[in-house]
Amino acid sequence: MDINYAIFRRRIFAWYAKHSRLLSWRNTGTTIDPYRVWVSEIMLQQTTTKTVEGYFERFVKRFPTIAELAAAPIDEVNRLWEGLGYYRRCVQMQRAAQEIVTRFGGVFPNRRDDVLSLPGIGRYTAGAILSIAFDQRQPILEANTIRLHARLLALRADPTQNEANTLLWNFAEEILPQKNTGRFNQALMDLGSLVCTGQEPQCISCPVVQFCETAKQGLQSKIPYQKIKEKKEYRTEVALLVRKQGKILLIRYPEGVRWAGLWDFPRAETDAELPNHIAEDPKLRERLALMTGHRLEPESLIETIKHSVTRFRITLLFFTGTDRGKISLTENIENTKPYELQWVTPSELHRIPLNSTGRKLVQNINQKTLW
Ligand code: ADE
Repeated sequence: MDINYAIFRRRIFAWYAKHSRLLSWRNTGTTIDPYRVWVSEIMLQQTTTKTVEGYFERFVKRFPTIAELAAAPIDEVNRLWEGLGYYRRCVQMQRAAQEIVTRFGGVFPNRRDDVLSLPGIGRYTAGAILSIAFDQRQPILEANTIRLHARLLALRADPTQNEANTLLWNFAEEILPQKNTGRFNQALMDLGSLVCTGQEPQCISCPVVQFCETAKQGLQSKIPYQKIKEKKEYRTEVALLVRKQGKILLIRYPEGVRWAGLWDFPRAETDAELPNHIAEDPKLRERLALMTGHRLEPESLIETIKHSVTRFRITLLFFTGTDRGKISLTENIENTKPYELQWVTPSELHRIPLNSTGRKLVQNINQKTLW
Protein backbone atom coordinates (compact mmCIF):
# COMPACT_ATOMS: atom_id res chain seq x y z
CA MET A 1 0.00 0.00 0.00
CA ASP A 2 1.24 3.50 -0.77
CA ILE A 3 1.76 5.49 2.36
CA ASN A 4 1.20 9.23 2.30
CA TYR A 5 4.24 10.16 4.37
CA ALA A 6 3.09 13.68 5.20
CA ILE A 7 -0.10 12.35 6.77
CA PHE A 8 1.74 9.45 8.37
CA ARG A 9 4.25 11.79 10.10
CA ARG A 10 1.57 14.21 11.24
CA ARG A 11 -0.40 11.37 12.83
CA ILE A 12 2.70 9.99 14.55
CA PHE A 13 3.60 13.39 16.04
CA ALA A 14 0.02 14.03 17.17
CA TRP A 15 -0.20 10.63 18.82
CA TYR A 16 3.13 11.14 20.60
CA ALA A 17 2.08 14.53 21.97
CA LYS A 18 -0.65 12.71 23.87
CA HIS A 19 0.88 9.32 24.65
CA SER A 20 4.65 9.63 25.02
CA ARG A 21 6.07 7.54 27.85
CA LEU A 22 7.63 9.39 30.76
CA LEU A 23 11.04 7.77 30.85
CA SER A 24 13.74 9.13 33.13
CA TRP A 25 16.36 9.55 30.39
CA ARG A 26 13.99 11.74 28.40
CA ASN A 27 13.78 14.10 31.34
CA THR A 28 16.67 16.34 30.41
CA GLY A 29 15.11 19.80 30.72
CA THR A 30 15.71 22.11 27.79
CA THR A 31 19.08 20.90 26.57
CA ILE A 32 19.70 17.31 25.63
CA ASP A 33 22.94 15.82 26.92
CA PRO A 34 24.33 13.33 24.34
CA TYR A 35 26.06 11.48 27.17
CA ARG A 36 22.73 10.68 28.84
CA VAL A 37 21.22 9.63 25.51
CA TRP A 38 24.20 7.38 24.86
CA VAL A 39 24.06 5.72 28.31
CA SER A 40 20.32 5.13 27.99
CA GLU A 41 20.61 3.66 24.50
CA ILE A 42 23.37 1.27 25.55
CA MET A 43 21.28 0.16 28.53
CA LEU A 44 18.24 -0.25 26.28
CA GLN A 45 20.04 -2.63 23.92
CA GLN A 46 18.38 -5.99 24.68
CA THR A 47 16.88 -4.69 27.95
CA THR A 48 13.35 -3.44 28.59
CA THR A 49 12.56 0.17 29.49
CA LYS A 50 11.09 -1.05 32.79
CA THR A 51 14.37 -2.66 33.87
CA VAL A 52 16.47 0.27 32.63
CA GLU A 53 14.37 2.73 34.67
CA GLY A 54 15.86 1.29 37.85
CA TYR A 55 19.45 1.71 36.68
CA PHE A 56 19.76 4.83 34.56
CA GLU A 57 19.49 7.60 37.18
CA ARG A 58 21.78 5.83 39.60
CA PHE A 59 24.39 5.38 36.90
CA VAL A 60 24.47 8.97 35.61
CA LYS A 61 24.34 10.32 39.16
CA ARG A 62 27.49 8.41 40.03
CA PHE A 63 29.13 9.16 36.66
CA PRO A 64 27.66 12.50 35.55
CA THR A 65 30.18 13.08 32.75
CA ILE A 66 32.08 11.13 30.14
CA ALA A 67 35.35 12.00 31.90
CA GLU A 68 34.14 10.61 35.22
CA LEU A 69 32.99 7.38 33.59
CA ALA A 70 36.33 7.09 31.78
CA ALA A 71 38.31 7.47 35.01
CA ALA A 72 36.27 5.12 37.22
CA PRO A 73 37.52 1.70 38.43
CA ILE A 74 35.91 -0.96 36.23
CA ASP A 75 34.63 -2.89 39.27
CA GLU A 76 32.65 0.15 40.31
CA VAL A 77 31.16 0.59 36.84
CA ASN A 78 30.26 -3.10 36.69
CA ARG A 79 28.72 -2.92 40.17
CA LEU A 80 26.26 -0.27 38.98
CA TRP A 81 25.48 -2.41 35.93
CA GLU A 82 24.97 -5.55 38.02
CA GLY A 83 21.65 -7.21 37.15
CA LEU A 84 21.24 -5.52 33.74
CA GLY A 85 22.88 -8.41 31.90
CA TYR A 86 25.05 -8.39 28.75
CA TYR A 87 28.00 -7.07 30.73
CA ARG A 88 30.16 -6.56 27.67
CA ARG A 89 28.09 -3.45 27.01
CA CYS A 90 29.33 -1.92 30.21
CA VAL A 91 33.01 -2.67 29.63
CA GLN A 92 32.77 -1.39 26.05
CA MET A 93 30.99 1.74 27.21
CA GLN A 94 33.81 2.60 29.56
CA ARG A 95 36.32 1.96 26.78
CA ALA A 96 34.33 4.25 24.51
CA ALA A 97 34.32 6.93 27.24
CA GLN A 98 38.10 6.69 27.41
CA GLU A 99 38.33 7.02 23.63
CA ILE A 100 36.03 10.05 23.68
CA VAL A 101 38.37 11.66 26.21
CA THR A 102 41.51 10.95 24.19
CA ARG A 103 40.19 11.37 20.65
CA PHE A 104 37.47 14.00 21.07
CA GLY A 105 38.52 15.97 24.16
CA GLY A 106 35.74 14.44 26.27
CA VAL A 107 32.97 15.79 24.03
CA PHE A 108 30.57 13.26 22.53
CA PRO A 109 31.13 13.34 18.73
CA ASN A 110 28.33 14.23 16.34
CA ARG A 111 29.78 12.86 13.10
CA ARG A 112 28.23 9.55 12.17
CA ASP A 113 31.55 7.88 11.31
CA ASP A 114 33.07 8.98 14.62
CA VAL A 115 30.07 7.71 16.57
CA LEU A 116 30.13 4.38 14.74
CA SER A 117 33.85 4.00 15.43
CA LEU A 118 33.25 3.80 19.20
CA PRO A 119 33.11 0.39 20.91
CA GLY A 120 29.59 -0.93 21.48
CA ILE A 121 27.88 1.40 19.00
CA GLY A 122 26.28 -0.14 15.93
CA ARG A 123 23.92 1.17 13.33
CA TYR A 124 20.90 1.29 15.61
CA THR A 125 22.57 3.00 18.55
CA ALA A 126 24.31 5.53 16.31
CA GLY A 127 20.96 6.39 14.68
CA ALA A 128 19.28 6.76 18.06
CA ILE A 129 21.99 9.02 19.51
CA LEU A 130 22.38 11.17 16.39
CA SER A 131 18.65 11.67 15.98
CA ILE A 132 17.72 12.12 19.66
CA ALA A 133 20.73 14.11 20.85
CA PHE A 134 21.61 16.05 17.67
CA ASP A 135 18.36 15.93 15.70
CA GLN A 136 20.12 14.49 12.69
CA ARG A 137 17.97 12.77 10.10
CA GLN A 138 19.03 9.21 10.95
CA PRO A 139 16.85 6.09 11.04
CA ILE A 140 16.58 3.59 13.87
CA LEU A 141 15.50 -0.02 13.97
CA GLU A 142 15.10 -1.89 17.25
CA ALA A 143 12.66 -4.46 18.62
CA ASN A 144 9.62 -2.14 18.71
CA THR A 145 10.18 -0.53 15.33
CA ILE A 146 11.02 -3.83 13.67
CA ARG A 147 7.61 -5.11 14.75
CA LEU A 148 5.83 -1.89 13.78
CA HIS A 149 7.42 -1.62 10.35
CA ALA A 150 7.10 -5.34 9.60
CA ARG A 151 3.38 -5.00 10.29
CA LEU A 152 2.96 -1.79 8.29
CA LEU A 153 4.61 -3.51 5.31
CA ALA A 154 3.13 -7.00 5.98
CA LEU A 155 6.64 -8.39 5.86
CA ARG A 156 6.47 -12.15 6.29
CA ALA A 157 10.20 -12.85 6.16
CA ASP A 158 12.51 -13.13 9.17
CA PRO A 159 13.47 -9.48 9.93
CA THR A 160 16.98 -10.52 10.92
CA GLN A 161 17.70 -11.95 7.47
CA ASN A 162 19.65 -9.75 5.08
CA GLU A 163 17.07 -8.89 2.49
CA ALA A 164 14.24 -8.27 4.95
CA ASN A 165 16.56 -6.29 7.19
CA THR A 166 17.62 -4.02 4.33
CA LEU A 167 14.01 -3.46 3.40
CA LEU A 168 13.19 -2.43 6.97
CA TRP A 169 16.15 -0.04 7.22
CA ASN A 170 15.17 1.56 3.91
CA PHE A 171 11.63 2.00 5.13
CA ALA A 172 12.83 3.40 8.47
CA GLU A 173 14.81 6.01 6.52
CA GLU A 174 12.13 6.85 3.97
CA ILE A 175 9.49 7.73 6.53
CA LEU A 176 11.69 10.19 8.46
CA PRO A 177 10.61 13.82 8.66
CA GLN A 178 13.05 16.62 7.76
CA LYS A 179 13.28 17.83 11.35
CA ASN A 180 12.42 16.59 14.85
CA THR A 181 13.72 13.20 13.80
CA GLY A 182 14.65 12.28 17.38
CA ARG A 183 11.12 12.96 18.51
CA PHE A 184 9.74 11.01 15.56
CA ASN A 185 11.97 7.99 16.25
CA GLN A 186 10.99 7.94 19.91
CA ALA A 187 7.34 8.19 18.91
CA LEU A 188 7.71 5.13 16.70
CA MET A 189 9.30 3.16 19.53
CA ASP A 190 6.50 4.15 21.90
CA LEU A 191 3.86 3.26 19.34
CA GLY A 192 5.48 -0.15 18.90
CA SER A 193 5.73 -0.67 22.63
CA LEU A 194 2.28 0.58 23.69
CA VAL A 195 0.03 -0.14 20.71
CA CYS A 196 1.67 -2.38 18.12
CA THR A 197 2.46 -4.99 20.75
CA GLY A 198 3.61 -8.55 20.07
CA GLN A 199 0.48 -10.13 21.46
CA GLU A 200 -2.93 -8.61 20.70
CA PRO A 201 -1.92 -5.28 19.17
CA GLN A 202 -4.38 -2.46 19.87
CA CYS A 203 -5.08 -1.61 16.24
CA ILE A 204 -8.17 0.31 17.27
CA SER A 205 -5.91 2.87 19.02
CA CYS A 206 -3.32 3.02 16.26
CA PRO A 207 -2.96 6.43 14.56
CA VAL A 208 -1.58 4.86 11.36
CA VAL A 209 -3.78 1.77 11.08
CA GLN A 210 -5.12 2.98 7.75
CA PHE A 211 -1.61 2.52 6.32
CA CYS A 212 -1.11 -0.93 7.81
CA GLU A 213 -1.09 -3.81 5.37
CA THR A 214 -1.13 -6.38 8.18
CA ALA A 215 -4.25 -4.90 9.78
CA LYS A 216 -5.90 -4.75 6.37
CA GLN A 217 -5.26 -8.45 5.82
CA GLY A 218 -5.98 -9.43 9.45
CA LEU A 219 -2.55 -11.05 9.81
CA GLN A 220 -1.55 -9.52 13.18
CA SER A 221 -0.92 -12.91 14.78
CA LYS A 222 1.26 -14.08 11.85
CA ILE A 223 3.41 -10.95 11.44
CA PRO A 224 6.13 -10.32 12.46
CA TYR A 225 7.73 -13.64 11.68
CA GLN A 226 8.51 -15.68 14.83
CA LYS A 227 11.56 -17.86 15.17
CA ILE A 228 10.83 -21.39 16.33
CA LYS A 229 11.93 -21.56 19.95
CA GLU A 230 15.01 -23.63 20.75
CA LYS A 231 14.52 -26.68 22.94
CA LYS A 232 15.33 -26.20 26.61
CA GLU A 233 18.33 -28.00 28.03
CA TYR A 234 18.70 -28.96 31.65
CA ARG A 235 22.01 -28.91 33.47
CA THR A 236 23.33 -29.01 37.02
CA GLU A 237 26.09 -26.74 38.26
CA VAL A 238 27.86 -26.44 41.58
CA ALA A 239 29.05 -23.21 43.23
CA LEU A 240 31.39 -23.37 46.20
CA LEU A 241 31.58 -21.29 49.35
CA VAL A 242 35.26 -21.70 50.20
CA ARG A 243 36.39 -19.99 53.41
CA LYS A 244 39.85 -19.43 54.78
CA GLN A 245 40.74 -17.23 57.76
CA GLY A 246 37.47 -15.34 57.61
CA LYS A 247 37.71 -14.72 53.86
CA ILE A 248 35.78 -16.10 50.92
CA LEU A 249 37.18 -17.18 47.57
CA LEU A 250 35.85 -15.45 44.44
CA ILE A 251 36.70 -15.89 40.78
CA ARG A 252 36.45 -13.29 38.02
CA TYR A 253 35.07 -14.32 34.62
CA PRO A 254 37.58 -13.44 31.90
CA GLU A 255 36.89 -11.67 28.64
CA GLY A 256 35.09 -13.66 26.01
CA VAL A 257 32.92 -15.73 28.36
CA ARG A 258 29.50 -15.07 29.81
CA TRP A 259 29.59 -12.60 32.73
CA ALA A 260 33.01 -11.31 31.64
CA GLY A 261 34.43 -8.94 34.24
CA LEU A 262 32.02 -10.02 36.98
CA TRP A 263 32.92 -11.98 40.09
CA ASP A 264 31.30 -15.19 41.34
CA PHE A 265 31.87 -18.13 43.64
CA PRO A 266 33.95 -20.83 41.91
CA ARG A 267 31.37 -22.62 39.80
CA ALA A 268 31.29 -25.51 37.33
CA GLU A 269 29.02 -28.06 35.72
CA THR A 270 28.59 -31.50 37.26
CA ASP A 271 27.64 -34.73 35.52
CA ALA A 272 26.65 -36.40 38.78
CA GLU A 273 23.13 -37.77 38.70
CA LEU A 274 22.51 -37.75 42.45
CA PRO A 275 23.22 -34.96 44.96
CA ASN A 276 25.28 -37.25 47.18
CA HIS A 277 27.57 -38.10 44.26
CA ILE A 278 28.49 -34.49 43.70
CA ALA A 279 31.22 -34.19 46.29
CA GLU A 280 32.99 -37.09 44.57
CA ASP A 281 32.41 -36.12 40.94
CA PRO A 282 35.93 -36.15 39.41
CA LYS A 283 34.89 -34.08 36.36
CA LEU A 284 33.54 -31.34 38.60
CA ARG A 285 36.77 -31.30 40.63
CA GLU A 286 38.80 -31.10 37.45
CA ARG A 287 36.74 -28.22 36.09
CA LEU A 288 37.05 -26.32 39.36
CA ALA A 289 40.80 -26.96 39.45
CA LEU A 290 41.29 -25.69 35.90
CA MET A 291 39.17 -22.65 36.62
CA THR A 292 40.90 -21.65 39.85
CA GLY A 293 44.30 -23.36 39.81
CA HIS A 294 43.35 -24.74 43.23
CA ARG A 295 42.21 -28.17 44.37
CA LEU A 296 38.74 -27.43 45.71
CA GLU A 297 36.64 -30.07 47.43
CA PRO A 298 32.88 -29.75 47.70
CA GLU A 299 31.56 -30.73 51.14
CA SER A 300 27.96 -30.12 52.12
CA LEU A 301 24.96 -28.62 50.40
CA ILE A 302 23.82 -25.20 51.65
CA GLU A 303 21.00 -24.55 49.22
CA THR A 304 19.70 -25.03 45.69
CA ILE A 305 18.55 -22.33 43.30
CA LYS A 306 17.14 -22.64 39.81
CA HIS A 307 17.71 -20.13 37.06
CA SER A 308 17.73 -19.82 33.29
CA VAL A 309 20.46 -18.67 30.94
CA THR A 310 19.36 -18.52 27.30
CA ARG A 311 18.03 -22.02 26.54
CA PHE A 312 19.59 -23.64 29.63
CA ARG A 313 17.55 -24.42 32.73
CA ILE A 314 20.16 -24.59 35.43
CA THR A 315 19.92 -26.15 38.85
CA LEU A 316 22.65 -24.51 40.90
CA LEU A 317 23.77 -26.35 44.02
CA PHE A 318 25.61 -24.19 46.51
CA PHE A 319 28.08 -26.24 48.54
CA THR A 320 30.58 -25.43 51.23
CA GLY A 321 34.04 -26.36 50.06
CA THR A 322 37.65 -26.56 51.15
CA ASP A 323 40.77 -25.30 49.43
CA ARG A 324 43.40 -28.06 49.42
CA GLY A 325 46.04 -25.80 47.91
CA LYS A 326 47.31 -25.00 44.44
CA ILE A 327 47.47 -27.65 41.75
CA SER A 328 50.86 -28.31 40.20
CA LEU A 329 51.63 -27.35 36.61
CA THR A 330 51.61 -30.99 35.54
CA GLU A 331 48.09 -31.40 36.90
CA ASN A 332 46.92 -28.64 34.58
CA ILE A 333 46.56 -31.05 31.70
CA GLU A 334 44.91 -28.56 29.39
CA ASN A 335 47.51 -25.92 30.18
CA THR A 336 44.83 -23.29 30.67
CA LYS A 337 45.20 -20.02 32.49
CA PRO A 338 43.21 -19.98 35.73
CA TYR A 339 40.72 -17.18 36.28
CA GLU A 340 41.66 -14.20 38.43
CA LEU A 341 40.98 -14.93 42.12
CA GLN A 342 40.49 -12.87 45.22
CA TRP A 343 39.81 -13.62 48.87
CA VAL A 344 37.33 -11.16 50.37
CA THR A 345 35.68 -10.59 53.73
CA PRO A 346 31.86 -10.87 53.83
CA SER A 347 31.60 -7.10 54.44
CA GLU A 348 33.39 -6.36 51.15
CA LEU A 349 30.89 -8.30 49.06
CA HIS A 350 28.45 -5.41 48.67
CA ARG A 351 30.87 -3.37 46.58
CA ILE A 352 32.10 -6.19 44.34
CA PRO A 353 30.22 -6.72 41.04
CA LEU A 354 28.78 -10.24 41.13
CA ASN A 355 26.71 -12.12 38.59
CA SER A 356 23.04 -12.49 39.44
CA THR A 357 23.23 -15.91 41.09
CA GLY A 358 26.34 -14.88 43.03
CA ARG A 359 24.43 -11.90 44.43
CA LYS A 360 21.43 -14.08 45.24
CA LEU A 361 23.56 -16.56 47.15
CA VAL A 362 25.18 -13.70 49.11
CA GLN A 363 21.77 -12.29 50.00
CA ASN A 364 20.46 -15.68 51.11
CA ILE A 365 23.51 -16.29 53.22
CA ASN A 366 23.26 -12.81 54.75
CA GLN A 367 19.68 -13.57 55.69
CA LYS A 368 20.62 -16.80 57.34
CA THR A 369 23.69 -15.10 58.86
CA LEU A 370 25.70 -18.09 57.77
CA TRP A 371 29.07 -16.38 57.42
N1 ADE B 1 14.31 1.40 23.20
C1 ADE B 1 15.53 1.70 22.75
N2 ADE B 1 15.73 3.04 22.79
C2 ADE B 1 14.62 3.59 23.31
C3 ADE B 1 14.20 4.90 23.63
N3 ADE B 1 15.02 5.93 23.43
N4 ADE B 1 12.97 5.09 24.13
C4 ADE B 1 12.19 4.03 24.35
N5 ADE B 1 12.49 2.78 24.07
C5 ADE B 1 13.71 2.53 23.56
